[in-house]
Amino acid sequence: MVTIRPPALFIVFFLSTHSASGSYPQAQNVTWKSTNFKTILSWDPKPSADYSYTVEFSVVGGNKQRNPHCIRFSATVCDLSSSLTDLNACYTADVLSEQPLGASSDINEFPYTSSPRFCPYKDTEIGKPDFKLEVNEDKKKTTLYVTDPLTTLFKDGQQLNIRDIFSDQLQYKVTYRKNKSTGKKVYNSKTNMIELTDLDPGESYCFNIQAYIPSRSVDKQLGELSQTQCSKDDNQTIFEVYSVGVITATIFLILLLIGIIIAVTVVCCKRRNKALKRGKEGVPLQDV
Ligand SMILES: *[C@@H]1O[C@H](CO)[C@@H](O)[C@H](O)[C@H]1NC(C)=O
Ligand SMILES: *[C@@H]1O[C@H](CO)[C@@H](O)[C@H](O)[C@H]1NC(C)=O
Repeated sequence: MVTIRPPALFIVFFLSTHSASGSYPQAQNVTWKSTNFKTILSWDPKPSADYSYTVEFSVVGGNKQRNPHCIRFSATVCDLSSSLTDLNACYTADVLSEQPLGASSDINEFPYTSSPRFCPYKDTEIGKPDFKLEVNEDKKKTTLYVTDPLTTLFKDGQQLNIRDIFSDQLQYKVTYRKNKSTGKKVYNSKTNMIELTDLDPGESYCFNIQAYIPSRSVDKQLGELSQTQCSKDDNQTIFEVYSVGVITATIFLILLLIGIIIAVTVVCCKRRNKALKRGKEGVPLQDV
């Protein structure tokens, strides 16, 4: 009789923990999404009312930390932008499935899923830059002025842009083509003012720009493509500049004007001829 008790107790204990952790499903698909240092951890599935999630993150090998917004909550995203303060470090995060806020639990080992490793400086994607396009008066030089995308980081109350973070590691890659052709050319620039001097004067060219960080691993080097901007074409025919309607109306007006002039001339001539005739008829009469 006495020998049965411990195993029975053990079984009861095992069943209770098992069923408790079994009701807290493990997070799945834990992924980082990061652009311009705005970094969001996300996972599946949406929790039921029976459990919640807590995010713990750490520099790889370091102490675990928590973000106050991501403790026992029921969302499936956690914004860790302001938590990953060492941009050059690499982080991992665990998503724990816990009892809901306010409920108590005697479990101290919650099921969790770990994220892949994320290193802000190497991994954050760079969003599309903005740029202005200027063709020089003499048409021999086209200049692109690139605006660095802003990050979500602040220093001394100033919002930092990606040039502030990457400094001379940051380049811009310009992809351009003649508007009428698909053949593309590429130009890499270390500065934000990009002068292109080998373009055919008077041609319309279309440009795209993206950030380029050659020091990164190949699959992370290029940022998002900017919107396309095209320079103006100076060899446009009259039909490209004005619509057919405008041209038709203009021609019609010109014809109308010519018609009026002819009509007026004809009428005038007739009158003058009549007057002359009268004059001629009048003169002999006077002579007689
Ligand atoms: C995880 O991601 C896969 C692929 O996107 C998806 O099919 C699956 O439903 C996700 N898991 C959950 C729990 O939503
Ligand atoms: C460039 O070409 C597209 C169509 O190919 C046209 O819609 C656009 O107006 C052109 N831009 C210039 C500046 O010529």
